Amino acid sequence: MTQDELKQAVAQAALDYILPKLEKDSIVGIGTGSTANFFIDALAKHKDLFDGAVSSSKASEDRLKDHGISVFDLNSVGTFEFYVDGADETNERLELIKGGGAALTREKIVAACAKEFICIADDSKMVSLLGQFPLPVEVIPMARSFVAREIVKLGGDPVYREGVVTDNGGVILDVHNLRIDSPMELESQINQITGVITSGLFALRPADVLMLGTTNGVTTLKAN
Ligand code: 5RP
Repeated sequence: MTQDELKQAVAQAALDYILPKLEKDSIVGIGTGSTANFFIDALAKHKDLFDGAVSSSKASEDRLKDHGISVFDLNSVGTFEFYVDGADETNERLELIKGGGAALTREKIVAACAKEFICIADDSKMVSLLGQFPLPVEVIPMARSFVAREIVKLGGDPVYREGVVTDNGGVILDVHNLRIDSPMELESQINQITGVITSGLFALRPADVLMLGTTNGVTTLKAN
């Protein structure tokens, strides 16, 4: 199976998981990236079964609207049942690295509002130790150099993702060579650096359910 076929399989598995629980007034939280796109395309076939979506990026919002799915402002919605999104890395505790698509801040906000965060990924994303994928950190543009110096003190090698401006007007530092033994602690440390908008570590609020696409089918893990 190709990586895209694995992504498509987990997108379908997430849809099968939420479909029986959707009601006419349900709102679905939607992530960003190629796996989330497969989910949006699959969800669109059932758009009459629920009210609409909240989106973690302009890109996903556009795709949802192209399918005729209503997209609501998060402020008008409150909490909702499900958030479905991909990841760049996951460990067995369902702690994640996200932000390869630069949508980390909105992804973290929408995930925070959802009762259940369902992460969908192909099995290349499962690692024993987070950090092989450079950790994205979204930063206020004028604080870029300061934040980079502070991250060096934490042992990382930050690289400015040139040419990328996020939906929030932030810029991204991709932090290489971090050994992430304590994801929750590192997430808190990075969050506290002045000028940081968000880090792509999702450990304080990990996924609740992980659906991992393998050549032998979809494996589902749940947080303890
Ligand atoms: C975007 C993300 C994505 O979920 C992550 O990059 C995975 O993307 P893909 O599904 O294309 O592999 O965090 O900011």
